[in-house]
Amino acid sequence: MRILITGANGFVGRYLERELVSRNHEVFLGVKQIDEMEDIVRIQRSVEINILDKEQVKNTIDYIKPDVIVHLAAQSNVINSWVDPTYTMTTNIIGTINIVEVVGELSLSTKILTIGSSEEYGITAKYTNKLSESSPCLPQNPYATSKFAAGEVAKQIAKKYHLNHIHVRPFNHFGPGQQEGFVISDFASEIARVEAGLASNSIKVGYLEAERDFTDVRDIIDAYVLLIENNVPNGVYNIGSGVSRRISEILDYLIELADVPINIEIDYAKYRISEVENIVGDSTKIQQTIDWKPKHDFKDSLKDTLDWWRAAVSVKI
Ligand code: GDD
Repeated sequence: MRILITGANGFVGRYLERELVSRNHEVFLGVKQIDEMEDIVRIQRSVEINILDKEQVKNTIDYIKPDVIVHLAAQSNVINSWVDPTYTMTTNIIGTINIVEVVGELSLSTKILTIGSSEEYGITAKYTNKLSESSPCLPQNPYATSKFAAGEVAKQIAKKYHLNHIHVRPFNHFGPGQQEGFVISDFASEIARVEAGLASNSIKVGYLEAERDFTDVRDIIDAYVLLIENNVPNGVYNIGSGVSRRISEILDYLIELADVPINIEIDYAKYRISEVENIVGDSTKIQQTIDWKPKHDFKDSLKDTLDWWRAAVSVKI
């Protein structure tokens, strides 16, 4: 299949690229700007695409005529969405509209995967044990609102043009290569710096009582690949482990893995303006549709992530 990944240089995009290439798909990497320092094979696969420039999006998609588009390009950080809600809304909503509308206007039969978020359910999580696709969405921050709006408007445009459109709602995912700004990478990077003697033995953390549903990014990629390769009915699909994990427990485990003693310092600046306490998903629908299940052991994935940060930090010494 000819597959265009937008946001291909991001954490998830790089994993998806590798998996799709290994499965002999013809992969096009949609990137904001081609980085000449990248390896030559990646440069050859790359196309510059500014998702806010509809004309350019149209030319690119018309040129590639992809069988599938996986629209990963987004502002995906909850805290940053409070810093710049306008940028978050514009990138996530208008960017998605442009992609879906262009496919419709060009009368292509491209399957489109838009990437939403479990954050879309927002405060509903407080009243629901496990969130399913039919749980109401009541987003509590600009990022979550943008992802919900993007998914809804994509669905409406897809209906107008009779497109094949899937909106996924992945729950929290993590793994080697994830940058700081997300809780497990924040903790792991700080621990790695302490171990390397680059920081005092005290690490700063935010709110530890929240509970989230974490999945290894490589399992999330498996789900995307199955959704790409199989005939799947249009609609929304949750992707998560269904297991609720308290942030404090994750921190305790990472500290156990550390080679040196680590002290915890609560940093109230890291607290959220609005915190959804417990977000856990019901992923029965995707499990029944494409027979997907996460395979990675959670603790192994935490260790892989810490090891990745150990290597990353040592390179910078
Ligand atoms: N980032 C971060 N850093 N979060 C912390 C920290 C810290 O040092 N300490 C505690 N937390 C808490 C946050 O307050 C939140 O309750 C939880 O850890 C998870 O935070 P994040 O990893 O930043 O993830 P998120 O849940 O806000 O959003 C992520 O998951 C979504 C899927 O549910 C992002 O990856 C989104 O892009 C994604 O859609």
